[in-house]
Amino acid sequence: MRLPKKRCAQALILLALAVGLLFYVHSLELSNKTRWQDLGTSDLQDQMVLKPQKWKRAPERPLVPCFTNTSVAKISGFSAQPKHIQNFLLYKHCRDFPILQNAPPNKCTGSPGGLGPVFLFLAIKSSPKNYERRDLIRRTWGQERVVEGATIRRLFLVGTEPDVLEARKVNRLLAIEAQLHGDILQWDFHDSFFNLTLKQVLFLEWQAAHCPNASFIFNGDDDVFAHTDNMVVYLQGKEADKHLFVGYVISNVGPIRVPWSKYFVSELVMKEDKYPPYCGGGGILLSRFTTRAIQRASHEIPLFPIDDVYLGMCLQHEGLAPARHMGIKVVGVHAPSPRIGSFDPCFYQDVLLVHRFLPYEMLLMWDAIKNPGLKCSKSVLHTPRS
Ligand SMILES: *[C@@H]1O[C@H](CO)[C@@H](O)[C@H](O)[C@H]1NC(C)=O
Ligand SMILES: *[C@@H]1O[C@H](CO)[C@@H](O)[C@H](O)[C@H]1NC(C)=O
Ligand SMILES: *[C@@H]1O[C@H](CO)[C@@H](O)[C@H](O)[C@H]1NC(C)=O
Repeated sequence: MRLPKKRCAQALILLALAVGLLFYVHSLELSNKTRWQDLGTSDLQDQMVLKPQKWKRAPERPLVPCFTNTSVAKISGFSAQPKHIQNFLLYKHCRDFPILQNAPPNKCTGSPGGLGPVFLFLAIKSSPKNYERRDLIRRTWGQERVVEGATIRRLFLVGTEPDVLEARKVNRLLAIEAQLHGDILQWDFHDSFFNLTLKQVLFLEWQAAHCPNASFIFNGDDDVFAHTDNMVVYLQGKEADKHLFVGYVISNVGPIRVPWSKYFVSELVMKEDKYPPYCGGGGILLSRFTTRAIQRASHEIPLFPIDDVYLGMCLQHEGLAPARHMGIKVVGVHAPSPRIGSFDPCFYQDVLLVHRFLPYEMLLMWDAIKNPGLKCSKSVLHTPRS
């Protein structure tokens, strides 16, 4: 009679232990899940994308879904086009893509905790995978700061990786960057060379909706060295509500018709043999006035795959012209050797922008031009522009 009782008690204890263990394991699973989701896309999307949804898209512009223009494929010569040109033609009417990562709502308002009204807005086109470049730009010329009383703000413009698995991985990276730095503006379209105009046009729409009052825009690539302090000094002598579009002007050129070139533009894309004057896209400075003019014009002009040429087309449509700035060196410039021995910071002290910098070179150059001991004889900044 005593034994079963003892067994019963033992069984009860075991049962209690088992139930306890089950609860423990379950709670572990739960906390693991939350921890995992903190880094996972789904939860980040909840935080970063779903919440600001009300704010991120102006209610008057509902999203137009993108469809393939199948009649394009019937044009004679279509099947002989390179794949990226075919893609361009099939989707060139598509201009509305969902935002995956948006800028924080205070990006341009200066508050709360902001830096005041935006004077120079850095809109930097970056490929999704170029994390290192973005990282170095954040730490060097792209720092959000106040220079000579002028507020500088920064956003990286990115699309998505065409490969689905890569995209999942890189989208998560961009979600983390957005959370850490609040400087990612990502749309759900394939980030390819021939989609750069799409990126440009989407940015102009975003800017008109969310940052219309920034005085000046720097529109550039993530492989340039932009001397943003010099840009502020130069722009402080200009008026935001007058035309300004400066860079490295290219004129009297037309589409390249050799199919193996990166810039190949077939006659199916453009029949004309000449481009309007434009600025090399590595880096351009625009005033608020000109940004609005281009945004207006972009509603009238069909997308053209080469983004810097497209801006030239928009300017021409508005009766405006690009201007040259001697300090913007995009192509065909013999910059000093990036090797540290002949790396002359005084050369860079005078420029607004130099194309083709490796990430680590940005750090070296930023450090050199910020060196208080740096003495240079004269500046080209205040010499008249041609
Ligand atoms: C589709 O392509 C055809 C042929 O190029 C063109 O005429 C038509 O306007 C295009 N449709 C849209 C919606 O862009
Ligand atoms: C541009 O992006 C769209 C949407 O992702 C894609 O369908 C199209 O193929 C891309 N175009 C090019 C030229 O890469
Ligand atoms: C831009 O400036 C105008 C005039 O100062 C102001 O009314 C408007 O609210 C500002 N817009 C934004 C988005 O800050």
